[in-house]
Formats: sequence, structure tokens, C-alpha cells
Amino acid sequence: MRVVSIVGARPQFIKAAPVCRALRKRHEEVLVHSGQHYDYGMSDVFFEELDIPAPDFNLGVGSGGHGRQTGEMMGMLEELLLEQRPDAVLVYGDTNTTLAGGLAAVKLDVPVVHVEAGLRSFDRSMPEEINRVVVDHVSSVLLCPTRVAADTLAREGVVEGVEVVGDVMLDAVRFFAERIDAEEVLTRFGLESGGFYLATLHRAANSDDPERLAAVLRAFERLDAPVLFAVHPRTAKNLERHGLDGDLDASERVIAVPPVSYTETVALLGEAKALLTDSGGMQKEAYFLRVPCVTLREETEWVETVELGWNRLVGTDEQAIVDAAGDLAVRDAHPDVYGDGHAAEAAVAAVERPLTDG
Ligand code: UD1
Repeated sequence: MRVVSIVGARPQFIKAAPVCRALRKRHEEVLVHSGQHYDYGMSDVFFEELDIPAPDFNLGVGSGGHGRQTGEMMGMLEELLLEQRPDAVLVYGDTNTTLAGGLAAVKLDVPVVHVEAGLRSFDRSMPEEINRVVVDHVSSVLLCPTRVAADTLAREGVVEGVEVVGDVMLDAVRFFAERIDAEEVLTRFGLESGGFYLATLHRAANSDDPERLAAVLRAFERLDAPVLFAVHPRTAKNLERHGLDGDLDASERVIAVPPVSYTETVALLGEAKALLTDSGGMQKEAYFLRVPCVTLREETEWVETVELGWNRLVGTDEQAIVDAAGDLAVRDAHPDVYGDGHAAEAAVAAVERPLTDG
């Protein structure tokens, strides 16, 4: 089988690492980087650390409005797919790169495989929600991380080609957690195990809104331990635009740093008192590592983490963030709702079935 895999944004590099490894054992893979994320700290460092094969093609799309960014990628991907003639196209998650890859492939009648299918926040103002709904509805093989995701697809009438394979991000955490020197990372950041919060923020709804940004920063200031804030480039630009970067530089509570690498993230998260984030993937990573999470959104795709008591949804209300961080609970219950850490192998097997039968 010849598969064109398309990645482009930070979370996709992490998901691709275990899948590339499993896929290449038996099949030919052509790896395409859309160039949606292009900074060293948002892209190259992940390829190096996670040992992901170098992309065969980089489309260099860069930033832009959603329509332009997605459209440009589609145009380039169409040409590439006509040339490569793959048996399937594999896309990950919910970014504009996922949407462009899914649409370019299905319009050429190439089967689409969607890793992380069936996730919903039920908030259509989120660009990611539109991307995942559309891609799920044009995919031939839908690889779900959880049973909840498969049930969601069934409610939308999508039942064919749906398989629950577990979460490939768990594969990545398991693989790398063993190889990380957390002690060294903590020393480098001047932190103590269990004595700090890790924070990230990049959703458009939070990052682009100066009032929400300011409320989150005020809440961080009021927490009972230092906050290591790994600032996404989108958020860094907005902090500067709204004149909030000075407050951050002067803060004694918040340590703002550029985006951290994957192994640094896993090391820091594993040792943190709690995570404060609006990221989707990191809510799960906190669960994998048994670290409580305070989610700076009103809803989540990862409902299991909330139902099991490991994650609290607080939005961006200053007091609610402070209260949630002051009332963290580490639960006993920690079921394997995201699979057994072998999702990538299961994903490849699931792709092989329909595409190699007949
Ligand atoms: C994208 C995804 C989101 C994912 C996130 C992970 C979409 C719609 N959103 O959001 O689902 O969770 O990536 O990080 O696809 N920028 C840089 N350097 C980079 C990359 C981006 O400076 O390497 C800047 C861009 O110039 C732009 C901003 O960050 O101003 C946003 O980048 P974009 O890729 O559009 O979306 P993200 O917010 O990163």
C-alpha cells in the first residue's frame, strides 16, 4: 500500500511519530508537511526529537486567512496527489491542514483515512470543529480514539469504516516518558517537582480576545505556585498587540517562555502540580500522566477526562480559574479510556482491512 500522510501543525507531528513508525514497517509512506507551522520551535524540533522521517515534500504554505491558507494547500495537494497516485491519504486531527488534505483527496476519489475521528466540542464557532466535522464526513476510514467518538459519529449517520483504535498520543507519551530526564528539564527551568503549574493558551477565541487574555493572566498572578507559561506564537503576537507583554515580563509569578519541545512538555507536565490550558491534546496528556487539568474553555472534546474528575472546565473567568486551581483532585480512578498505548499498530491494521480487501 502507498499512503500519502499529510501533517502541518504541531499536534500532528506528535500524532504522526508513532503512526509513521508502525506504517513504514509494512507500507510505503510519502510524508507531506503543509508548512502551516514553520518556526523551529513549532515544527523542526518535533521532527528531530520524535525521530519523524523528514518530509518528502514541504508545501511552505505559512500563515494566512483560513480560506486562503486552506485553499492554497488544496491546490498544491491536488497536484501532488495526481503525481503520487496513493492508495490512501492519511490526515490527523482538526487543523486547516487536515481539511485541505481531506478535501483534496476525496475530490480525486482517493480514500481518506482520518486519525482522531469523531471528536466534537459542539461549538461551531471553533475553526477546528468545522474542520473535523467536514473531514469525518468525507473519510472512508475513521479511526476513533474512544468509544464516545464512535458513538458521536453514529449519531451523525457515519457508521461505515469506523474503528475504535485508541489514542495515538498515548503511544507517544508512553514511548517518550521512559526516555526523558525530567530532573534535568526541571533544573534547566529552575522548577521543583510538584511546585509549579504548567500553562499554555492558543485557541483563537482566547488568544485573539484581549479581555480574556488579560483575565487569564490576572488569574495566573493569583495562583499559589509559579506558572510556567509556554507561549504559542499566535498568543505572543496578541500579547504584544494588546500591550500585555510588559505585565508578563514584569511578573514574579509567571515565567513566560517560548514554546517548549515535546520531551520538555512531557517532562514538565509529569512534574507539574496541574496543567492550565485551552489545548485539546494537552488535556489528554495530563490525564495520561495523572496530572489534574484546569481547562480554559467552556467545553471539551475529551469529555472522559471531565467525567472521571481529572479535568475541570472553567473558561476564562479569573475567579473560576483561581478557585479550580485551589481545589485540585488527584483521583484513584484512572481507567484506560484512551486504549492501551498501541493505537498506532491498531490504526495501521484498520487501514489495511478495507484498502487491501478486494
Ligand atoms: C493551529 C490549529 C489548531 C492547533 C494548533 C496547535 C487550525 C485552524 N488551528 O492553530 O487546531 O491546535 O495549530 O498549535 O488549523 N505562527 C507562527 N509560527 C508558526 C506557526 C504559527 O508565528 O510556526 C503564527 C501565525 O503567523 C499565525 C498564528 O501563529 O499568526 C496562528 O497560526 P495557525 O497555524 O493559523 O493556527 P494556530 O493558532 O497555530
